[in-house]
Amino acid sequence: MPCLPERGHADKTTGLNRSVCHNLAFSGRRRPEERPRREKKVLLFQQVSNSRVIKSKTSLVNGLSLLGAIIAIGLMATFGSIEPSLASTVLITGSSRGIGFEFARQYADKGWTVIATCRNPAGAHALNALAAEQPNIIIEQLDVTDHGMIDALAKKYQDTPIDVLLNNAGINPGQQPQTFGAIDYDVYHRIIATNTTGPLKMAEAFVGHVAASEHKKIMTLTSGLGSLNAAERLPGILVPYRISKAGVNMAMLVISRAVKGRGIVVGTLEPGIVDTDQAAGMNVPKMSPEQAIAAMITVIENFDADTSGLIYRYTGERAAW
Ligand SMILES: NC(=O)c1ccc[n+]([C@@H]2O[C@H](COP(=O)([O-])OP(=O)(O)OC[C@H]3O[C@@H](n4cnc5c(N)ncnc54)[C@H](OP(=O)(O)O)[C@@H]3O)[C@@H](O)[C@H]2O)c1
Repeated sequence: MPCLPERGHADKTTGLNRSVCHNLAFSGRRRPEERPRREKKVLLFQQVSNSRVIKSKTSLVNGLSLLGAIIAIGLMATFGSIEPSLASTVLITGSSRGIGFEFARQYADKGWTVIATCRNPAGAHALNALAAEQPNIIIEQLDVTDHGMIDALAKKYQDTPIDVLLNNAGINPGQQPQTFGAIDYDVYHRIIATNTTGPLKMAEAFVGHVAASEHKKIMTLTSGLGSLNAAERLPGILVPYRISKAGVNMAMLVISRAVKGRGIVVGTLEPGIVDTDQAAGMNVPKMSPEQAIAAMITVIENFDADTSGLIYRYTGERAAW
């Protein structure tokens, strides 16, 4: 199990400077890998019982106190109010801003443990401020195009079940380098590496963590522009982005079949047009991130074995290929 290095020292497993990654998020808290989740209720119950059993023999009053304590602790443990470690865990890519940030905020509000990953934790000011308020948010550095970094993070969390792996990170660097006839192929490769290969590699690296969880879900953000039905719209525009999203739709469909036997549900989500940096240049009505993400969390909850591999819109309707 990896240990938490002192602030300012590099993590031996990942080589990351943990004082940067955890500067605000970690004070006074234990690392998730130090918190065995499922055994917690039993251990807690046994410790309280054992320590009090001798006293309980000496008087009826003490005996009743013991009973009361056990019932109270049993109730608290059942409803998850003692240990945040009993909560479900979501790992989100691209949490510094936009949709990923709002997912982190809303899952944290729901009491989930949130592993909020981002490329540059030191510069993710809003996320750091949120983590300072919400002790259940852990910030980790992750660039989804860096496969060594993905593997290192997966190793670091090897004992942590991840209920929802949320592939959110994505780029769409504007029309100019993405128009047929003038495509910039450096940009093209960066888009594919981020939007298509990134989620595929994340799924490969974290499939064991998801399989070990209760919810067992791998969810990926796509776009209606990646739909085959959208081919007639905006001809020749945003070609690499559209290829990248059509590609990730197929990647998730294929993965859904590969992991079916392990009870994992794979879903692809169309968020609609959400008011983030990525949609800044679009002169159309936009949803607030609060509204769109609340809707998508419900869609994620509703994904099951029957719908695994499919694309759903934030509205809860099935989207076309
Ligand atoms: N907004 C929309 O209307 C809309 C519509 C359809 C689909 N989507 C999809 O929804 C997802 C989120 O979009 P958004 O609107 O929130 O975009 P955004 O505001 O531009 O945010 C993108 C996020 O992805 C991160 N990111 C970019 N490249 C990364 C990399 N290589 N590794 C890790 N993180 C990386 C960014 O981190 P930095 O801060 O480090 O740059 C940022 O946190 C994307 O997949 C997008 O394609 C959005």
